[in-house]
Amino acid sequence: MIVSKTKRLRGEVSIPGDKSVSHRSVMFGAIARGTTEIHHYLQGADCLSTISCFRKMGIEIDNRGETVLVRGKGLRGLTQPDGVLDCGNSGTTMRLISGILAGQPFGAVLTGDDSIRKRPMNRIMEPLGLMGAHIRSTENNGYAPLEILGGHLHGISYTSRVASAQVKSAILLAGLYAEGETRVTEPYLSRNHSEIMLNHFGADIRTEGTCAILRPGGELQGRKILVPGDISSAAYFICAGLMVPDSEILIRNVGINPTREGILRVSRAMGAHITLLDEQSGSGEPTADILVRSSSLHGTVIEGAIIPTLIDELPMIAAMACLAEGKTVIRDAAELKVKESNRLEVMVRCLKAMGADVTETDDGMIIEGGKPLSGAVIDSRLDHRIAMTFAVLGLCAEGETRILGSECVNISYPGFYEDLKRLQ
Ligand code: S3P
Repeated sequence: MIVSKTKRLRGEVSIPGDKSVSHRSVMFGAIARGTTEIHHYLQGADCLSTISCFRKMGIEIDNRGETVLVRGKGLRGLTQPDGVLDCGNSGTTMRLISGILAGQPFGAVLTGDDSIRKRPMNRIMEPLGLMGAHIRSTENNGYAPLEILGGHLHGISYTSRVASAQVKSAILLAGLYAEGETRVTEPYLSRNHSEIMLNHFGADIRTEGTCAILRPGGELQGRKILVPGDISSAAYFICAGLMVPDSEILIRNVGINPTREGILRVSRAMGAHITLLDEQSGSGEPTADILVRSSSLHGTVIEGAIIPTLIDELPMIAAMACLAEGKTVIRDAAELKVKESNRLEVMVRCLKAMGADVTETDDGMIIEGGKPLSGAVIDSRLDHRIAMTFAVLGLCAEGETRILGSECVNISYPGFYEDLKRLQ
């Protein structure tokens, strides 16, 4: 993909379904009783991996595109898969399914692509083991493939070192199969889609501050789910509209759950013109249309509790900070090192290649904004968020930006380049 400088961006864009909510709707639907009807399911490769894993465990899933029907068989209705479960590039698929498998009376093996086989799985192996599951990294290196033999589980009270919704959700899902209450406390509140949706499906779940508490009980009941547009996908258009001069973009139907909308707070702190229109609250997940206009931006500090609420948007925010006046400091973001790529290292290297003044730190980066940028060859490392970030930054740089492996956007946003082109 080749991107060049653009004069303006104008128009409307409708954002595909939220990746986190889409995964959960199929997973919870599969272990609920009755049919779950999902609208605006994300048809990205990650969410298709989740569908294929549950089909392999005997769940009938009718994927009609916009709508997906899951014929749930209840908490104990899954069957042993014939062969390994392939999670592709998807960390959410692997970690959340591990939580479900921990409670099954059969064994299974989970694997995925080169990227996911280098992502830390100890963070779920440890708590699921404490609950009574037998879970093993087959190469003994803390990475997938994972072999899981479900056991007789008991609830635990677990304090996680990282604020991770994948870890929290894996433990809560195992908690559905455990004897006694399960509690997960995290250093900061991570996205709470599991808590909202489990509650919607009838589970006994509540939160106290950064602690989620689940009491196992009866069966979950299939529900209708309206998946909001993904704010992590909207982020590229939010920042593009703010960064490119003479722009105005209306971004339709975006999820603005408070545990996800840190990008709006940080952008406003940087001087952004952002207006929320038509605010609604679907199945517990608030949504809005977001109107952005080109803005004169300045640097800021991003740290602490806000980090989990914008963790996937940090590559785009860092790129935007290169065009803002003054210094931006990002701290407490070491988790970026263990995403689909080492996003700290990759971002710093690629931003420097375009002429930005960026320094990597232990847990973030320091950006001196306002330097002129020029196009470069960007190796996305097949990380969808890196590819989309540089497709946007390339619109603000002199000359051409060439993105290698650009098709990886299909992980979370098939049609991204077409949507971006339509605004030019
Ligand atoms: C996700 C949680 C986050 C996020 C990922 C999706 C989820 O990961 O980066 O894209 O759906 O629970 P962590 O839980 O590892 O922070």
